[in-house]
Amino acid sequence: MPANTPPPTAAPATPAPAPDPTLHKIPGSKFSFTTAQINSRTAPADWIPEDHPVMPDIVAHGREAADPQIYACALCHMPNGKGRPENAAVTGLTYEYIMQQLMDFKNGHRKTSDNRKTNTALMEGFAKSMTREEMEASAKYFASIPATPWIKVMESQTVPKTFTRGGVFFAITGPQAGSEPLGNRIIETPISEEAFETRNPRSGFIAYVPVGSLKKGEALVKTGGGKVTACTTCHGLDLRGLGPVPRLAGRSPSYLARQLYDMQQGNRSGAWTPLMASVVAAMTPDDMLEVSAYLASLTP
Ligand code: HEC
Ligand code: HEC
Repeated sequence: MPANTPPPTAAPATPAPAPDPTLHKIPGSKFSFTTAQINSRTAPADWIPEDHPVMPDIVAHGREAADPQIYACALCHMPNGKGRPENAAVTGLTYEYIMQQLMDFKNGHRKTSDNRKTNTALMEGFAKSMTREEMEASAKYFASIPATPWIKVMESQTVPKTFTRGGVFFAITGPQAGSEPLGNRIIETPISEEAFETRNPRSGFIAYVPVGSLKKGEALVKTGGGKVTACTTCHGLDLRGLGPVPRLAGRSPSYLARQLYDMQQGNRSGAWTPLMASVVAAMTPDDMLEVSAYLASLTP
């Protein structure tokens, strides 16, 4: 730009929109919250406190003064730890496993293979900011909550037409709504978009999976299909994990497939990841889809 070019005229300042004062309610909760309160990084809505133990400060509020700022764990993983497809369920995992993952994030050993997935980088930043005490308090909290069903898995030829927002699939409503062939995909979507947006802690997800995928997934998980060590060898006969080996039963298929892919690509490479190396090396995309469908369908 030549030195004498005048600077572009500044656009007239538009005042920031006032926060939406509408109060939302959900069944089973005596509270009402605005959208800003629901999505607060420092104190996200806790709709039904009696559904979970008392949250330590780091889980309920994060730490605003940290650099980078630590958001409340409850914002993404929810106060009850059930999580959502774009992050992770953190219930039904051992203290040991959770601590290891926080250390792996901190040490840069857990990255995403999809650079559009900005929340993984956020998670890494939180772990880098966290003190040992904060890690222990959050790991102790989430490890104390048993996993309960959250995702309904359904084999289907077709699926509602969806769009994505923030890394999550939502059914299209209105005149564009309809169904389409599922093909060789898993589509995991909130049972209710409204419940999702209000972060309703009692409304889960449905995952549409290809017809026949559960049976194929089961064979690979239980026998290894002649190409990998059976998953049950390490993750337990009930697939609920043990020590540093995580629970797989009843978890989000989107999350599971993402982890398998990240490990295969070398973007997840923590202290215990080498045990998965030969497993993921031998898996095809179809294998990943089928085991994820089957594992998600199990009672956690
Ligand atoms: C901005 C959203 C967000 C917040 C807030 C957040 N996390 Fe996460 N967390 C994620 C995402 C995303 C992943 C999964 C990353 C992936 O799929 O690559 C994750 C994964 C994890 C995992 C790994 C689970 C597993 O099975 O391996 C643990 C443990 C975890 N988070 C703990 C925490 C704790 C403790 C806090 C609070 C200090 C926290 N997270 C706050 C987004 C978040
Ligand atoms: C030799 C033992 C072993 C075998 C066999 C094994 N796993 Fe794992 N798996 C592990 C360990 C250990 C971890 C934790 C890795 C880490 O901390 O990074 C893990 C992690 C995972 C994760 C990540 C879960 C999370 O919470 O992020 C998935 C998904 C997974 N395994 C799926 C499978 C599947 C599917 C099979 C069978 C096809 C399988 N594993 C077989 C030991 C094993």
